[in-house]
Order: sequence, then C-alpha cells, then structure tokens
Amino acid sequence: MNAAGPGVFMAIHTIIEPFRIKTVEPIRWTTRAEREQLLRAAHYNLFLLPAEDVLIDLLTDSGTGAMSTRQWAAMMEGDESYAGSKSFDRFRESVQGIFGYKHVIPTHQGRAAERILFGVMCKKGDVVPNNTHFDTTRANIEFVGAEAVDLPIGEAREPACVHPFKGNMDVTGLEQLIERVGRQHVPLVMMTITNNSGGGQPASLENMRAVSAVCRRHGIPLYLDACRFAENAYFIKLREPGYESKTPKEIAREIFRLGDGCTMSAKKDGMANIGGFLCTNDDVLAQQEKNLLILTEGYPTYGGLAGRDLEAIAVGIEEALEEDYLRYRIVSTAYLGKHVADQGVPIVQPPGGHAIYLDARAFLPHIPQEQFPGVALAAELYLEGGIRSVEIGTLMFGAAAKMDLVRLAIPRRVYTQSHIDYVVEVILEVWRRREQIRGLKLTYEAPFLRHFTAHLEPA
Ligand code: F0G
Repeated sequence: MNAAGPGVFMAIHTIIEPFRIKTVEPIRWTTRAEREQLLRAAHYNLFLLPAEDVLIDLLTDSGTGAMSTRQWAAMMEGDESYAGSKSFDRFRESVQGIFGYKHVIPTHQGRAAERILFGVMCKKGDVVPNNTHFDTTRANIEFVGAEAVDLPIGEAREPACVHPFKGNMDVTGLEQLIERVGRQHVPLVMMTITNNSGGGQPASLENMRAVSAVCRRHGIPLYLDACRFAENAYFIKLREPGYESKTPKEIAREIFRLGDGCTMSAKKDGMANIGGFLCTNDDVLAQQEKNLLILTEGYPTYGGLAGRDLEAIAVGIEEALEEDYLRYRIVSTAYLGKHVADQGVPIVQPPGGHAIYLDARAFLPHIPQEQFPGVALAAELYLEGGIRSVEIGTLMFGAAAKMDLVRLAIPRRVYTQSHIDYVVEVILEVWRRREQIRGLKLTYEAPFLRHFTAHLEPA
C-alpha cells in the first residue's frame, strides 16, 4: 500500500495527514488502576464512561470529525434568518452540485431525514429492501409498521471473506422479494453507501446500476443512504475497472444519478458536527416532506439547523471529496486493519472506509456468545490503553446476532498516524493475552435499545 500522492517517489510509504494542526485539544492519560475503577463504575458498558476519561475515542465517526479553517471561516458567514437565509442557498447549491437532486431539505441529522422519508412514503404492511439497514433506518421503517429487509450479497456474511465490494446488494434477492411481496408493497428501495452495519464496505457502480435497473423496471424509487458517499466513491476509483481516472466527485455524481433521492447524515462525510438532509426529485413528495419538516424540525430553509451549520456542511461535503484527504483516510484505516490482521487478529476483511471491525467470536473463542465476547473485548481495549470502541453483536441485537464485532470507528481528521500506531499496539497487547479475558453477564437491561444503558459484571 502506498500513501504517496501522484508524482511522489513511490519508495516513500509514510502516511502523512494532508493538513497542519492549528488548534489542539488535550487528551488525558489515566492509569490502569483508574481505568479498572472507571470501568467498574461504568458497569463494563463503554457508553457509560465520561468522555474525558477516554484517551482515544473510536466509539463513532459520527459528528466527531475536526472542521477545517475554511469551514470555521464559512460559519462566521452564517445567516441566521428564520426564512430565506443566504446560508440555505449556499447549502442547497453545494448539495445540488454533488447530489444533483431537485429538492434539498435540511434536517438536524440523518435519522430525522429517515423519519420524514418513511413517514411520507411507507405504511403498515410495506417492505423496504436495503443492502443492510443501519439501526436507525430499520427502526424508523418499523416505527411506521413497515418491514425492513436486508439483502447483502452472500460474501458480506463471512467476516474473513475478501471481496472488493462487500457492500453490494443481492440483485437476484431483490427481484425475488419484489416478486414475492408484490410491487405495490415496496414503496422504495434503499442502498446504504458505504454499508456501515456490514463493515463499512463499499458498493460498486455496477451493482448500483443493476439495482437501479430493477427499480426502474418495476417503477420503484431508489433512495441512497449517503452518509459515507465520498468514501464509497473513492473505493470505486481504487477498485472498479474504468474509474481510475475519474475524480471522486465525478463518481459521486454518477452514483446519485442512479437514484431518485437520498438521506444523508452530514455528521459523517459532511465533515460537520451536526446536520443532515433529505433529497428527492419528486415534487409531490417534497411538498409532503416539507410540511412534515415544519411540524417537527423547522422551516424548510433551516430544518432544525443553525445557518452556520448549513455553511459548515456546504464546505464539508466538498472537502470530503478531495483526493488527498480520501487517500489518507482510506490508507490510514487500511493500515490499522493490516497491522493487526498481519499478527493474526481476526477482523472483518477487507478493512472498511471509516472503521475496522474486530471479530470478537474468533478473537475470544473461549467466551460463549451469551457472555458477550464483543463487550468483553471492548472493555479490555479500554483497560489496556484507554481506547473506546463499540460492540456490534449480542448486547446490541440480542441472541439472534449473527456476529459479535467490535467496531473501531475513526473520526475524520482527528487522530494522527502515531495515534493509529498506538491503537495497533494496544490491540496486539490484548491479543497476546486474550486467553485471560473473561466473559460478562448482564445485571440490568432496558426493554429496548439495551446496549446504550446495560449494566454488566464479570461472569
Ligand atoms: N445511516 C447510516 C449508514 C449511519 O451510519 C447512520 C449513523 C445513520 C444513517 C443515522 O444518522 O446519526 O445522523 O441520525 N451512524 C452513526 C454510527 C450513529 O455510529 O455509525 P444520524
């Protein structure tokens, strides 16, 4: 893997951040004894830890990125008018320049866009296919009484299987589903790029074109869950024949031309700390969506955001597509994955765009599923090195969980390569003494979404 840019001597392998650091935020060391105490006080659930007691926070890449000087400068130009704000015009132009959709509706984050979209398009008894629904997408579909169906390709279910586009949708499965339930029960098809729940894996343009063709044939609208669209576009440039010399922006535009609209969390590839949007080409739907927006989010020229947030997103979606940035982002995440996998650590292969997923069942085969191997591993990473990650497994999904994964999500432009080297060392140290790690048992669980508040103790 070479991190050097075009024209740079290819023997240079060091990954460097394509930015200088102008403002710093101290992070705090704790002792192992302190972390033991903190972990007990948090009931072995890392969501319950105070963030200031975390050294490297890889809980999520959502809203945790660092903004650029250009974004901060743009924020000072924020027009906070209730209606007709100039910031909204800049936001809409920037979004349309990449996404190309007719209507751009700002929302406070991704799930607000989802709630409005499904609230308008879905009803009880409907079925919404996706390569893999993210939790909030699924929950918002189920909330209106519809069914969320995941249709990833078979390779996506095998953590160790290497495939360039593990985020692809099973196109035959999609055809069969539409056939089985009837077109009238499928109000829309979703496609999540990159596929977060499936390991941050990209979908290919070839696959999206095939999905789009099925949708067009049946007259079903296709919506993209676009949170990590820039990373997906860059993976296409790297891996899909014919796209080597296209810019990520050109590829992104080609992706969005295949759809009829999108939902977006600007907390990811929007490079902002808050915000999102909903896009559609459909005039009638847009009107209904704006009416619902006014009821719960805000007037359509701000949608629950401050004018300055709209400015930050307008600049951020452009910056997310810059090639120097994307090269560093993807190479740095792959570096983390490669350096632990080379020592035998089981991870979801290949490394994703925004995160590395450790396969906790393979990492800790002596811990049975009912003793939460993912939570035990996440707790151990904190204990060893103050790193916060998140379990995606039995605590989150219950006994039906197909995998027990630990996600290490990398905030954008926040940590340096030496931070990443440190994370590698901590994982390898935990790997060396993995046999001593014990399972956990639940002592408290909430009736739903239990992973956020659960209490556990050593089994
Ligand atoms: N879709 C995907 C694929 C996501 O990853 C997320 C959020 C959302 C929708 C919802 O967006 O948070 O702005 O409301 N994912 C975060 C994560 C929370 O940690 O992966 P939101």
